[in-house]
Amino acid sequence: MVVSYHRPTKVIVDLAAIKENVSIEVKKQAGKRDVFAVVKANGYGHGAVPAAKAALVGGASGFCVATLDEGIALRESGITAPIIVLGIVEVAWLPLILEYHLAVPVATLSWLEEAALYMATQALTGQLLLHLTVDTGMGRIGFRDEAEILVAIEKIKENVNWVFEGIFTHFATADEADQTYWHKQNQRFKKVVASLPEKPRYIHASNSATALWQEDCGNLVRLGIAMYGQNPSGGQLEAPYLLRPAMSLESALVQVKAVPAGEGIGYGKTYETPATEWVGTVPIGYADGFVRKMQGFKVLVEGQPCEIIGRICMDQLMIRLPQAYPVGTKVTFFGQNQDKEITVQEVADYLGTIHYEVICLLSDRIPREYLNTEGILS
Ligand SMILES: Cc1ncc(COP(=O)(O)O)c(C=O)c1O
Repeated sequence: MVVSYHRPTKVIVDLAAIKENVSIEVKKQAGKRDVFAVVKANGYGHGAVPAAKAALVGGASGFCVATLDEGIALRESGITAPIIVLGIVEVAWLPLILEYHLAVPVATLSWLEEAALYMATQALTGQLLLHLTVDTGMGRIGFRDEAEILVAIEKIKENVNWVFEGIFTHFATADEADQTYWHKQNQRFKKVVASLPEKPRYIHASNSATALWQEDCGNLVRLGIAMYGQNPSGGQLEAPYLLRPAMSLESALVQVKAVPAGEGIGYGKTYETPATEWVGTVPIGYADGFVRKMQGFKVLVEGQPCEIIGRICMDQLMIRLPQAYPVGTKVTFFGQNQDKEITVQEVADYLGTIHYEVICLLSDRIPREYLNTEGILS
């Protein structure tokens, strides 16, 4: 993807906010639990490496990613702290898993059997860090059968270079006020952990929502959305401490014109000017992850809410301005503009989705600009 530096559209990431959000959680855990920063999906759109470095300064002691490549990218940036890949990695990539010293999940006995065979036939050596994953009710990856988990541990022990480093599960409803299902999952996980003949180094189940609102579990927290300053429940539950949003999205007006009454704006002429209107054009579109459904929502210009009119194009959109503003005037899609703010949550509500999706969808075409980099990136 070509990053478009030569236009005013940019994602601005305040690394101090990430550092502080992590540091609050680290302090709260008071040495009882490690906090691993979840930097998958390019650090939820913030940039995985800068986010990881800010989290490290905030006291994170390791990282979680979704894919092998994301783990490799962190290692290549110089990060030496433990990294857990949360998604299943094919056995064929064992040479890379070993080379980059990444911990990987084990969800089936067949994976272990294939891995043993692969390592033997390829004469692979090196320490393989394994985390057994337990499906307690998410229905995604992991063992459902307790007996199989015990067999898996035996199989791990049979291989001298394999380390049973962790066991984990993932909660489906930790961000909801009704805790019934969360408790059911937690009880199942506790039962599995209690049945283990020996405890691994890491026992982990907590995502952000669990860390914020549920009873503590395990000895490692996988902190994702909260480190980026977003409330995991989308505002349904009040966060026990202030989460500082790290990301804002802004651009600038590239053309401003008066359009007479009765004229169409955008593809399909879905908007017609009811009177002469000031129309501003902004260089962002659905190819940037600013989706067409945002038509009709607002942006901020000089602290004024301005409606997005007409269909959003691939690379540009149009807004109705209360007056003529000069080309180059800042346009805020979310974040602060003068004394006004649009939150990512408001955007998500408008789209009928969750804030996770809004920030993760912002494409790599948009450059990321970092604030408060001192002591983090330099
Ligand atoms: C297995 C796992 N752990 C932790 C997280 C982090 O969750 P959150 O961003 O809600 O903290 C995720 C995110 O989807 C995940 O899939």
